[in-house]
Amino acid sequence: MWKEIEAAPADAILGLTEAFKKDPNPAKVNLGVGVFKDDEGNTPILNCIKAAERKLVETETTKGYLPISGNPAYAANVQNLLFGPDSEVIASGRAATIHSPGGTGALRVGADLLKKFKPEATVWVSTPTWANHKGIFTAAGFAINDYPYYRPATKDVDFDAMVGALEAVPAGDIVLMHVCCHNPTGVDLLPEQWDRVVAIAGEKGWTPFLDFAYQGFGAGIEEDRAAVDKFVAAGVDFLIASSFSKNFGLYNERTGALTVVAPTAAEAAVAMSHIKATVRVNYSNPPAHGGLAAGMVLEDAALYDQWIGEVADMRDRIKAMRVALVDGLAARGVEQDFSFIKEQNGMFSFSGLSNEIVAWLKENKAIYIVGGGRINVAGLTTANIDYVCDSIAEALKA
Ligand code: LMR
Repeated sequence: MWKEIEAAPADAILGLTEAFKKDPNPAKVNLGVGVFKDDEGNTPILNCIKAAERKLVETETTKGYLPISGNPAYAANVQNLLFGPDSEVIASGRAATIHSPGGTGALRVGADLLKKFKPEATVWVSTPTWANHKGIFTAAGFAINDYPYYRPATKDVDFDAMVGALEAVPAGDIVLMHVCCHNPTGVDLLPEQWDRVVAIAGEKGWTPFLDFAYQGFGAGIEEDRAAVDKFVAAGVDFLIASSFSKNFGLYNERTGALTVVAPTAAEAAVAMSHIKATVRVNYSNPPAHGGLAAGMVLEDAALYDQWIGEVADMRDRIKAMRVALVDGLAARGVEQDFSFIKEQNGMFSFSGLSNEIVAWLKENKAIYIVGGGRINVAGLTTANIDYVCDSIAEALKA
């Protein structure tokens, strides 16, 4: 059957990791996939998660199926994290949350759900956006269009162009947005810009779909949900895909959530019935372990405080490496100004390095960077920063 079929291209991000693993160069550095690394280059299990897992092993009594939507306590914990425990949305019950296999799983379930009721809609994504966004929504059968976002010349958001495009998005279409730590640029909207976007969504009647994969990697767990609060206050229908891969370090446990916010509890219940139908024909019900561990951390005051501290440590380490990269390049006499990297949020830096430079660095220095120039700043360590700065300086002068 496969004889006449052409092989698919490698994944733009995970394919890089496969190539990296095969690379025999001992100096190799992976700045591709968005995975946190400590200064030793390891992706640690958070101490709060280890503690929860120990407790779990002692207390877990069954590996029976979870409900289709996951553990109800998990959904409640996720809603507290997304909206704050005192939110009106929680009290009124107008949000429906399921435990999804990671943020990608949440996006795909949300996409399949929306396709059922908005078969003709177009999905609008920022220019640029996460390499997998277009793939997920295309796989669900949607047509994709772009709205302007990042302006390379000024390294910020081209907000006028963005507003112009969002005002022209037809009612009923879907607009995908990054709540914080925009992937790949690291450049987020200002609070007043979010106000404008939320107002346009309400006026024009398109559906916001918020990708929230980096809660805690911007300014803090609570601070980073500010845009979510604004959509809640506007009373519009919207969806949120959350991921606990990064902020709980639960990458391989595929732990995330899809939340649908509706104007009333009755509508949220209808949405939930269709989300469950979508999940049942897809993967039936979610894997339990990651959600149970994260749930324990969220419920236990001491573990929660420990988690907040561990997220802050990850955030601070990435900020320190931003500074080391910018200063390291300047110290090597690189003329190009990279100081904007210090201002970007989250794990990534949209470095401005061209695809030619990215290819040169891979070929000659075994430094792996995603096409378009996105650097995983968390992949930099005190052991590899000099090598990376030397290599980029050499590439830019070559
Ligand atoms: C990334 O953008 O590198 C991460 O979200 C991991 C992934 O699945 O692509």
